Amino acid sequence: MRVGHLAERCAKIRTLTPIPLPVGEGLSNRHLGSACLIIPRSATTTGPAMSIDQLETVAQAMVAPGKGIIAIDESTGTIKKRFDSVGIPNTEENRRAYREMLLTAPGLGEHISGAILYDETIRQSTKAGVPFTQVMKQAGIIPGIKVDLGAKPLAGFPGELVTEGLDGLRERLAEYVEFGAEFAKWRAVITIGEDMPSSTCIDANAHALARYAALCQEAGIVPMVEPEVLMDGDHDIDTCYEVTEATLRSLFAALYEHNVMLEGTILKASMVVSGKDCAEQADVDEVAESTILCLKSAVPAVLPGIVFLSGGQSDEDATAHLNAMNQLGPHPWPLSFSYGRAMQSAALQLWAKDMAGNFAAAQKVVVERARDNGLAALGQWRQAA
Ligand code: 13P
Repeated sequence: MRVGHLAERCAKIRTLTPIPLPVGEGLSNRHLGSACLIIPRSATTTGPAMSIDQLETVAQAMVAPGKGIIAIDESTGTIKKRFDSVGIPNTEENRRAYREMLLTAPGLGEHISGAILYDETIRQSTKAGVPFTQVMKQAGIIPGIKVDLGAKPLAGFPGELVTEGLDGLRERLAEYVEFGAEFAKWRAVITIGEDMPSSTCIDANAHALARYAALCQEAGIVPMVEPEVLMDGDHDIDTCYEVTEATLRSLFAALYEHNVMLEGTILKASMVVSGKDCAEQADVDEVAESTILCLKSAVPAVLPGIVFLSGGQSDEDATAHLNAMNQLGPHPWPLSFSYGRAMQSAALQLWAKDMAGNFAAAQKVVVERARDNGLAALGQWRQAA
């Protein structure tokens, strides 16, 4: 049953979480609505109860002006692909050393608000023994954690995927909180192809994203919800628009049904682009205009921010698209980046040539990418002549 009215939603939450409500001073009606959601730590965790206001504060810090996220949450299998491409053996020590190079880059925190880590990485430390999360907090970088367990074939729908990882998630989130994580990421994958995506695939992924997001907020962690519409295929930009809009509509309906407070949620979106193999490639302006129109038609204005994945775009395209979108602003939400490949690939290539000798030079490269994307988040990036 849909519980439509905010007061009813809050009453419902109160019944579910019978703990005292703080009396806020000077709260607007909207904030009274929010403040009624006091999120208890689950039975397995310790520490203070978390309020929606704290989630909102973290979410806003993630999209602070001129700042964005670096995604370094590649699973062991995905980082192997990246390392293979530059000839680095995929050992635990190489993964640790690589992430140390990135996370300790001097000045990274000027343009990076947060970093998404993988399960192995959040447990690791610098060579000198300082936990990565401590290094990050000292640099003003909020620790985030990827918590999904990957996209698996959706039974009955050949070629389509559904993301798994809800079983035991409450307990895993509690552990990540102890490590210092303040936000989490869950990636759903939507594939465009013949008779794809099905509404079953879109809705199954939206449902999982909503259940994940609700668990995050219960644990006091900001959920970053990522429904990625893949660039793979020869479809045109209009098809990408339609699929992205349907995906976002399904996602926000599911978040609503699951009582997820949007004020404490970040959307990680894919841009509306032509398929990689489409003969006609939309230019930067068309990508920017289509993406903005799509987001405005499907994403509530109350969301604190939207960040984009790079999804296989070149470094320059990822930056140019973000910049063009922000030049079309102001928009209802800050638009920033949460790039993986488009933040790291140049630095990885340099580091791989001489891990020790190019350590500092590779750090400079990743900071340059952060600065360029930070400028693009303000619409102030200028393409090098
Ligand atoms: P890319 O920017 O390389 O697509 O990675 C972002 C990400 O986190 C995908 O889940």
